[in-house]
Amino acid sequence: MNPTLRVAELKSLIAYHNHRYYTLDSPEISDASYDALLKELELLENLYPQLKTTDSPSQRVGSPPRESFKKVPHFPPMLSLANAFNKEALGEFNLRVCELLGATSVEYICEPKLDGLAISVTYVQGKLIRGATRGNGEVGEDITHNILTIQNLPKRLEGEAGLLDTLELRGEVFIQKTDFQNLNALRAQHNEPLFANPRNAAAGSLRQLDARVVAGRPLSVFLYELAQGKTFASHLQKLEWMEAHGLPVNPLRFHAKGLGEVETFYQQLLQERATLPYEMDGLVVKVDLTEFRERLGEASKNPRWAVAYKFPSEEVETRVEDIQVGVGRTGVLTPFALLRPVMVGGACISRATLHNEDELLRKDIHIGDWVFVRRAGDVIPEIVAPIPSRRTGGERPFSFPPLCPSCQAAVYRVPNQATTRCTGLSCPAQLCAKICHFASRTAMDIEGLGEQRAEQLIEAGLVKRLVDIYHLNFEQLMAQPRMGEKSCQKLLAAIEHSKTCRLARFIFALGIHQVGEVTAKALAAHFQNIEALMRANFEELTKVHDIGPEVAREILEHFANPNNCQLINDFLAVGIAFVAENLTPASGGHALSGKRLVLTGSLSTLSREQAKAEIEKRGGKVTETVSAKTNWVVAGENAGSKLEKAKAWGLDILDEQQLKQLLES
Ligand code: IVH
Repeated sequence: MNPTLRVAELKSLIAYHNHRYYTLDSPEISDASYDALLKELELLENLYPQLKTTDSPSQRVGSPPRESFKKVPHFPPMLSLANAFNKEALGEFNLRVCELLGATSVEYICEPKLDGLAISVTYVQGKLIRGATRGNGEVGEDITHNILTIQNLPKRLEGEAGLLDTLELRGEVFIQKTDFQNLNALRAQHNEPLFANPRNAAAGSLRQLDARVVAGRPLSVFLYELAQGKTFASHLQKLEWMEAHGLPVNPLRFHAKGLGEVETFYQQLLQERATLPYEMDGLVVKVDLTEFRERLGEASKNPRWAVAYKFPSEEVETRVEDIQVGVGRTGVLTPFALLRPVMVGGACISRATLHNEDELLRKDIHIGDWVFVRRAGDVIPEIVAPIPSRRTGGERPFSFPPLCPSCQAAVYRVPNQATTRCTGLSCPAQLCAKICHFASRTAMDIEGLGEQRAEQLIEAGLVKRLVDIYHLNFEQLMAQPRMGEKSCQKLLAAIEHSKTCRLARFIFALGIHQVGEVTAKALAAHFQNIEALMRANFEELTKVHDIGPEVAREILEHFANPNNCQLINDFLAVGIAFVAENLTPASGGHALSGKRLVLTGSLSTLSREQAKAEIEKRGGKVTETVSAKTNWVVAGENAGSKLEKAKAWGLDILDEQQLKQLLES
């Protein structure tokens, strides 16, 4: 496959899985599969540096924070860890550390890797004043109200820690195994949905907007890093100081004199794992000496001085009760197995995706088969393989249906791909998935129009094409079951509000194959209006930055279909209008195009959001943290540590006047 297309595909796949993992707390693929995607992307970006963009998931950690919480910038950013899935990978990590330091052996501190949620907590003169989630690593969510409910986290610190101006610590919030069982038992009594595992319960609790709910959740925390306030010669000294000042630090840790001792401790913990009161998915191995850590520094999002040495994933046997097929937005049929419910790695599992027909055939899974199911700590399950010795002869091989399970139209295999598609033009399952995509937050952002609502509207015959969303009225909605007056008004208001939108969002919302958010932005910037995009020919499309022949063909094919053109005309007729955006093509020659800026301090004539929007319009990017990739730091009134850092690094610093000149140039 063409590398440009593969990179685009990998970016959107990774963004999707980030969203599932970080925002929905509901991952679909294993850690190892996720890592494989990321590795492939990094490899391609190294081979073809021109394909590496600053918004690539290889440059970021996680997904953006939810809108409903106040944002908290993290400085330094909250990094993630590289994984080592076996002894060899750990050996490679150690070798790299030794090589970079010019040492033959290095001392490490080993800590359990708890399966929870990373947080940052800040004390000012001993008083706990703020707690935040990691978010995307650079900006998290302010969850102070929830952090204050955590029992084992002191609200006030004494002694030297109580005198420090600012003390910022990082750690992991988690729920102990027994607390988790009690919590779910209680939820069962109240007929509330059960949490799948302790991690989801902890994550879901921390993101509650109502702290009273959180207070009823048995959250615990262990702190493992000190980000601001005091420095130490070694990690161990840091942990001991934290412990001596009443901060919750995991007493289980090990000072390893070298690689061999890390391995011994790992084996020992692997044995003890089941007896520990909390879930852990491996060891975190950290270089002890601060001086070494500083010399090693960090790669784009992982420190070079630490690694997560993961435990092998647990495999459990269960039975495939049935195999069914789901239909997605683009009509792709995805088979999945319904499993006899089974506990794997602390979660109850009852279904697993089988990806596509080829994967199903490769794994040779039959209905009724006993299979091995695996789940690496914090991810949803996959079927590893069937157990042929347990076959009794009553198993049935599954054959892909010739007709769509939702609309009974014929299905077809896309040539040279593992994909099977439904050909139905009015397939309810496709329409439902299309509506969900159209209404999603990064598309038209129509809150209240999720899967269940979409299904309901289709079933009632109210929505037959996407544009029908804009024909819904109060009486029709009120006639639907489970629809109150308030939610009805809210939904109609959200639909109305979505009529004025950015062109890029609208293009993305159309759900054209291969046109993700980034491509939609590039198209909007280039064509500036929807009619020009509809009229564009192959040459014009491939002129757009980042658009290759395959994507161009998809777009042409989309608009060659008169139904799709009619749909757009109908959207315009119901009053969809685009906010004026003086978009300069991203590849264009503006001085800010492709540049990374950091804003610090307050500007007198522009708000930060305005400045950011103006810079982005000209193809620039505004980031939260000063890094080696920063081109300019814009310093306003009362600029703080970012300005200091920029000065120390000798970066170009602009004042407000200079920024304005640049914007006007
Ligand atoms: S150190 C830069 N220590 O693992 C160092 N992380 O995959 C970053 N985690 O986001 C973290 N236990 O949520 C560290 N003892 C521990 C940890 C730990 C769990 C989590 C943490 C982090 C993730 C990285």
